[in-house]
Amino acid sequence: MKAVILAAGLGTRFKSDKPKVLHTLLGKPMLWYVINAVKGGGIRDIGIVVSHKAEEIKKTFGDEFKYFHQENPKGGTADAVLASIDFWRNSDDYLLIINGDSPLVTSETIKNMQRFLHMVEEYEKIKLSGVVLTSFLQDPTGYGRIVKEEGTDRILKIVEEKDATPQERNIREVNGGVYMFYVPHLLEALFKIKPSEKTGELYLTDAVQYIVSKGYEVRSFMASDPTEIIGVNTRWELSFAENILRLKLIKFWAERGVTFHIPETVWIEPDVSLSKNVEIYPSVALLGKTKVGEGTVIKNGSIVENSELGQKVVVEPYSIIRNSKVESEAVVGPYAHVREETTVGSKSHIGNFVEVKRSTIGEGVKAKHLAYIGDAQVGDEVNIGAGVVTANYDGKNKHRTVIEEKAFVGSNSLLIAPIKVGRLSYVAGGSAVSKDIPEGALAVERSKLRIIEGKGKKLLED
Ligand code: UD1
Ligand code: CA
Repeated sequence: MKAVILAAGLGTRFKSDKPKVLHTLLGKPMLWYVINAVKGGGIRDIGIVVSHKAEEIKKTFGDEFKYFHQENPKGGTADAVLASIDFWRNSDDYLLIINGDSPLVTSETIKNMQRFLHMVEEYEKIKLSGVVLTSFLQDPTGYGRIVKEEGTDRILKIVEEKDATPQERNIREVNGGVYMFYVPHLLEALFKIKPSEKTGELYLTDAVQYIVSKGYEVRSFMASDPTEIIGVNTRWELSFAENILRLKLIKFWAERGVTFHIPETVWIEPDVSLSKNVEIYPSVALLGKTKVGEGTVIKNGSIVENSELGQKVVVEPYSIIRNSKVESEAVVGPYAHVREETTVGSKSHIGNFVEVKRSTIGEGVKAKHLAYIGDAQVGDEVNIGAGVVTANYDGKNKHRTVIEEKAFVGSNSLLIAPIKVGRLSYVAGGSAVSKDIPEGALAVERSKLRIIEGKGKKLLED
């Protein structure tokens, strides 16, 4: 079976310069979800109908797909399918047609619709001309209504809301915008569709009535979850659909042993992967291809993006970890920023207001307060005092700092890179160091302290 995704509409109700299907839900474009559902449904040969800003869509999804250009993006859904006619007209199989603005449809449903066609063929000996995904909605406003033959699953026609009679408007079973049509019957029907008197558009949904009038059969297939069929026509519907997706993802991970505290506030993207006994506190955001190991806890307000956290890591509140790796039992935060391909070794502690950039931090390292570590290689069990700064940038180039294992870098010292601080060496607090320090040495760079008796009191009282 081939699939055609309809993504050429103008999306006028979005009031956007960007194509509607490129607007994102949980960091992924709407169309990404539709493509994923189709692929997950076992269909590899996919055509996408585009018009408005087609180049942007092609650039986003690449040449894995075939693109078809609909000349008139107001032509309607049947016109959009016709734009891709060369892709499917010679097929003697079913064709999947799916709206590009239905991001919640699942691959399970697409598989089930295919199974349904086979089952009817096998057990009832009927080759259906089509199957339409439907759902019962509390409020069917805006959707095409499914008119059926009493007491059966046979669809007689689909009536768009604008054309519906008051009685038809009362029907709560709606068209989900996912269809499988037997190609020879679809082909004939598409050429018979007349423009809507209300909108001038050619409605794909009108194909059903024509097919049925020729004595063929089209049936409904009910979505297992009514939210699956939601169409996204406005930004508010985008927010609504995104929220449903988000909760579904959270439920998926909760069922696999992850605890979410106040899940309404947690943002989690589809490529994130969590292990069991992970605990996520309120207002956490897990982005991109983040992977979290068993027993790790991520506390309030932290953001983890494209990063890998090992087992039993603790991310204290309001920390940001991006494109980095934090190994088992390390502690990051509160208020820490770990970024740009940093590795934090096992059992290390990157604490309050510490920023680490493009650095390798060994095991058991302590940098608990107010430090900047950039372009550095820090050995095991190094102690970095409060306020330590690696001066890695001379205004032109970035330079590396190497701090060997068990070195002690006292508070408020400045390591001017390129520099190497030897193993078991000691940098006295407040020193600005610009030369390599040999193994085991003490480096002190301070002006002499003067104490002048009585002078303080005099200054304060005069
Ligand atoms: C459509 C269905 C409606 C169904 C609903 C489900 C028709 C006539 N109506 O209504 O029965 O309940 O979806 O969400 O099909 N598109 C094109 N070219 C066009 C027009 C639309 O490619 O000329 C694309 C859009 O980009 C969109 C999809 O087709 O992805 C559906 O079009 P839209 O205008 O949103 O149809 P609805 O009014 O939502
Ligand atoms: Ca729509």
